[in-house]
Amino acid sequence: MSAGDENRRFDTRAVHSGERRGKQPGEGNGRGDFYPVSTPIYASTTFSHPDIQTTDRVLGGEEEGYSYARYDNPTVRAFEDAVGSLEDLRGEARAFAFGSGMAATHAALAATELTVGATALAAEQLYGSTATLLVQVFGAGGVETRFIDAYDLGLVEKRVAELKPRAVMVETISNPLLRVADIEGLAEITRAAGVALIVDNTFGTPYLQRPLDLGADIVVHSATKYLSGHGDLTAGVVVAGPPYDAAVESIRKLVGGVLGPFEAWLAHRGLKTLPLRMGRQCENAREVAARLQDHPRVAKVNHPSLEDHPDRGTAKRVLSDAGGLVSFELAVEAEEERDAAFRFLNALELCVKAPSLGDVYTLAIHPATSSHRELSPGRRERLGVKESLIRLSVGIEHPEDVISDLEQALERF
Ligand SMILES: Cc1ncc(COP(=O)(O)O)c(C=O)c1O
Repeated sequence: MSAGDENRRFDTRAVHSGERRGKQPGEGNGRGDFYPVSTPIYASTTFSHPDIQTTDRVLGGEEEGYSYARYDNPTVRAFEDAVGSLEDLRGEARAFAFGSGMAATHAALAATELTVGATALAAEQLYGSTATLLVQVFGAGGVETRFIDAYDLGLVEKRVAELKPRAVMVETISNPLLRVADIEGLAEITRAAGVALIVDNTFGTPYLQRPLDLGADIVVHSATKYLSGHGDLTAGVVVAGPPYDAAVESIRKLVGGVLGPFEAWLAHRGLKTLPLRMGRQCENAREVAARLQDHPRVAKVNHPSLEDHPDRGTAKRVLSDAGGLVSFELAVEAEEERDAAFRFLNALELCVKAPSLGDVYTLAIHPATSSHRELSPGRRERLGVKESLIRLSVGIEHPEDVISDLEQALERF
């Protein structure tokens, strides 16, 4: 959080947080003091000080400052402070930027001391690579992961009591059926049991929900998505307060998955328009979902704004809007589901076929062969990820252009 942030609203913080935080080089160069409006890209591996005693204190953590870029960098710190300011309005937590969402997720899990003999409880609907990270990487270190229906709070409470896990990991909004987790309810259970609640807020963003305010312990982001918003970088962020912040910082120093200053600068630039982008994306997604629902060649639409969404009530309570993702099933016979989905995607002319989300452009994917490719057909079916399912990450275009494109592809597929 930057000085003065505590009195400012979310949209204002998005624009100003992290910037203009001190005198920059140039002081004393004969042209007077100046403050760059946007934090420069500090492409410097090391940072020198007027005397070695200061370097000693900075390296020892007795004085705030920069020494070595794997530990800290002013451009990266500016981005981190901005994300921290948006995720944690109270200013008790710190944000740490990583080279990818997966590096951030790894650090968050490791910070809860998931070591040999420990158990992790994870939502069945987790992003595939997060589930694989838990099973393969943490599994190899002697951690057992149990997957559960995280939307059944009674079951979560039972499993937490039974298994005494060290961490519970969920996502604010799941992929691709857009189930909405009751973070408040989950936090009540984990707090009472002394278990760390880690929330991946990639799909939600602090615009829709701030899990730390609802009782979560650690927030994780793939900043590759909505936070940066333009599909031009890979980054991750962990936001955590004591005792997890110190562990995350130490893991990042030792494993070294830090974000570079160029990407941090670009991500920070993207973050400034998060409220504008998300506002428009949510509005557009609501419109797209409503229109798809009326289309005869669409069998089912998933969006938390719709009457028949299983978590509509939870979404109204825990999210400020229903989000920018929509998924839908094509109305086709079972045996031609995949072919039909491929034909539909190939018929799109404006929406971009790309396996990501959160960009200013509308993106479309086939979850069964992308995000859920690694799962067995049986597991996909159990999770409700049909071959006829399409996921849209709705962008900031004019909604009628997106809808026209979807309609022409629905006519032609
Ligand atoms: C919900 C979620 N979490 C984490 C990640 C991993 O992020 P990254 O690709 O930046 O490593 C993704 C990637 O798609 C994601 O969708």
